[in-house]
Amino acid sequence: MAIDYEYIRNVGIGAAYGSAKILCDHLGNLDRIEKKGPGDLVTSADLASEKQIMDTIHARFPDHDFLAEESGETHRNISECCWIIDPLDGTTNYAHQVPLFAISIAFAVSGETQVGIVLNPVTGELFTAIRGKGATLNGRPIRTSSCPKLSDALLVTGFPYNAKQNIKPYMTRFERCLNASIGVRRLGSAALDLCFVACGRFDGFWEENLKPWDTAAGDLIAKEAGARVTDFTGNEYTVDKNEILATNGHIHDNMCAILQHMRCYEIVCQK
Ligand code: IPD
Ligand code: CA
Ligand code: CA
Repeated sequence: MAIDYEYIRNVGIGAAYGSAKILCDHLGNLDRIEKKGPGDLVTSADLASEKQIMDTIHARFPDHDFLAEESGETHRNISECCWIIDPLDGTTNYAHQVPLFAISIAFAVSGETQVGIVLNPVTGELFTAIRGKGATLNGRPIRTSSCPKLSDALLVTGFPYNAKQNIKPYMTRFERCLNASIGVRRLGSAALDLCFVACGRFDGFWEENLKPWDTAAGDLIAKEAGARVTDFTGNEYTVDKNEILATNGHIHDNMCAILQHMRCYEIVCQK
């Protein structure tokens, strides 16, 4: 039977709004903040948000699997359908009451993302995409920017929680991109970074060591809005890859050259 992706998207949007209420209710009012690793926080809000999303979806689709940040993977093996969930992308911002965080929900069939949903509960901005049907922001179609030159481009990036263990390559990459562009931002939510490339606010985004739940929804939203999304060598990005580069397309080859150059630099430094 054909899958009704509009219905899937509507169920995902309903789950996202349910979690938006939870996150807004807990904002500035957290009873639990713990560290999963150095700098990597988890709060009672992450856990409550994830439970609400999974319960909502499971009630409609009991045979679907989940890959969720806080509770891991299920293997029902009944269908090829899997929901990839980040219940709170931008936990560090959230714990500090910085209103830059999102709920990210993707739906994949046989490993290919078909639906993406990213919701910022504070601004109310809802980004969605269905494969082959374009991307929207609050129901209106969105496109990437038309900025033709890297020297005029506004970029955004993020740093993995373990960056401090080997900070030099991240800083050198940052410095090179800063020198080549009009500026670089660091928002603290990879899902929003990708959506902001999708709607043309940023011209490019790069990061390393992200997880499938950080990027699955934003990757589809960006691609459906016209973005080119690859690894640093220009090969198509898939959520199991360690590097992501999403741009408006025009600046992509120049960005790859800068980021790859860094890889050569790291190899030289390690010798
Ligand atoms: C983090 C955010 C951040 C990125 C980190 C991610 P979390 O997700 O997306 O922008 O730089 O690498 O882990 O932990 O807030 O869900
Ligand atoms: Ca995340
Ligand atoms: Ca998270």
